Amino acid sequence: MSGCEEPCRGWGHCAPSPVLLLSLLLTTAPFGLLGEETRQVSLEVISDWLDAPQNLLHVRAVGTNSTLHYVWSSLGPPAVLLVATNTPYSTLSVNWSLLISSDPDGALMVHPKDSIQFSSALVFTRLFEFDSTNTSDAAADSPGKSYPPYSLAEFSWNNITDSLDPATLSVTFRGHPIHDPTGAFANGSLIFRVQAFSRSGRPVQPPRLLHTADTCQLEVALVGASPRGNRSLFGLEVATLGQGPDCPSVQEQHSIDDEYAPAVFQLDQLLWGSLPSGFMQWRPVAFSQKQGSRESAMSCQVSPLYPTLAYLLPQSPIVRAFFGPQSNFCAFNLTFGASTGPGYWDQHYLSWSVLLGVGTPPVDALSPLVLGIMAVALGAPGLMLLAGGLFLLLSHKRHSEYQLIN
Ligand SMILES: *[C@@H]1O[C@H](CO)[C@@H](O)[C@H](O)[C@H]1NC(C)=O
Ligand SMILES: *[C@@H]1O[C@H](CO)[C@@H](O)[C@H](O)[C@H]1NC(C)=O
Ligand SMILES: *[C@@H]1O[C@H](CO)[C@@H](O)[C@H](O)[C@H]1NC(C)=O
Ligand SMILES: *[C@@H]1O[C@H](CO)[C@@H](O)[C@H](O)[C@H]1NC(C)=O
Ligand SMILES: *[C@@H]1O[C@H](CO)[C@@H](O)[C@H](O)[C@H]1NC(C)=O
Ligand SMILES: *[C@@H]1O[C@H](CO)[C@@H](O)[C@H](O)[C@H]1NC(C)=O
Ligand SMILES: *[C@@H]1O[C@H](CO)[C@@H](O)[C@H](O)[C@H]1NC(C)=O
Repeated sequence: MSGCEEPCRGWGHCAPSPVLLLSLLLTTAPFGLLGEETRQVSLEVISDWLDAPQNLLHVRAVGTNSTLHYVWSSLGPPAVLLVATNTPYSTLSVNWSLLISSDPDGALMVHPKDSIQFSSALVFTRLFEFDSTNTSDAAADSPGKSYPPYSLAEFSWNNITDSLDPATLSVTFRGHPIHDPTGAFANGSLIFRVQAFSRSGRPVQPPRLLHTADTCQLEVALVGASPRGNRSLFGLEVATLGQGPDCPSVQEQHSIDDEYAPAVFQLDQLLWGSLPSGFMQWRPVAFSQKQGSRESAMSCQVSPLYPTLAYLLPQSPIVRAFFGPQSNFCAFNLTFGASTGPGYWDQHYLSWSVLLGVGTPPVDALSPLVLGIMAVALGAPGLMLLAGGLFLLLSHKRHSEYQLIN
């Protein structure tokens, strides 16, 4: 058993044995539940002292009146639990021996239970690879014939402890298939880079998603793995827990502004319920180069969400441990790129980013550049109208004065 016990409040005084604790103390601004401007963010790698090398990362983001818990793990398929509570004192407890047992129900708990306002989970189940060489324009919506998928439950992952970076509040999971008969991953890996934030901002790397203290960013990257075809497209299958019988909905938002993600005028959102609720937010773009330029931008298609039978999915012990037996799983696919244009084949590189959070999703304000352009575009005719109006008014006045004089 490690992690915080019930009486242990706050975030600094409950160091469970081999634990890396890192904290950031910040002033908190007065904001209501689940909409805090700044948070005290701590990243804790909760180690299992029963020598099975498994990763469990607890991101705890404490605000004035709320705490968000993100629990990331590579135990089974990579997965994250998202739990929001309405108290700054909620804690996570972990029973490792139960968690790695065949029946992990109850091994992960957030106390006090009645403070939980929202909880759900994402499970990254499979990596797909498609052969796009034969896709004609007529079948453009199909990425091509699928090679046998990689099950992410059958990956082995690095020890994340050394990748924890206190400066950026980030941690990197690096994995490759346990069985790799063709050696496709001999020089490659699938990377999940998790980053938390103590305040709002925007990263330097495209797609430059606007984040807040209520969100975590995940960057998924496939680097250096040998593709099985000359024009391989990749896809990711994601499963989530619905909040009821219905699956979460995906919304597309359009904007006239592409300053932060060149040529991308769309923002996609997965919402678990009516707002404020949990959300995933991403731009439908992935990159085939680290620099993430317009030239390396690939489209990212999302399939509709469908209810899925739990037994068809690889089981995530952390989801089972927190939620118990569940049947309301929904799954969807993300597909990156097209047979034409830039692709993974260019540099054996692919990266896609998504925000995960609770509350109201961040909204991009129009950038100063676009406001300037709008001011000029709308301003010129407006000025002409105004000038015209004044001219008419003045000439009419002069006319009446003239008549008066007469
Ligand atoms: C915290 O919650 C209490 C009780 O609901 C409320 O009175 C108070 O204004 C909240 N504080 C902030 C900073 O939101
Ligand atoms: C992971 O790395 C840390 C620091 O290097 C070490 O203390 C810990 O025992 C490692 N965990 C496992 C499961 O190997
Ligand atoms: C962890 O779970 C096991 C199995 O249910 C139980 O025997 C043990 O007491 C639990 N440990 C703690 C600290 O609760
Ligand atoms: C592509 O299509 C052609 C003609 O339909 C076929 O001969 C060829 O075997 C296909 N190639 C692949 C890789 O499926
Ligand atoms: C892996 O890298 C080594 C050294 O750069 C190279 O010799 C080998 O061919 C690579 N293997 C694969 C499968 O790409
Ligand atoms: C890849 O392209 C090369 C050269 O165009 C060709 O010889 C080879 O058969 C192709 N491989 C596959 C798997 O399509
Ligand atoms: C994702 O795509 C694969 C390959 O096309 C398909 O087998 C699978 O059923 C899809 N999953 C979902 C949830 O749509």
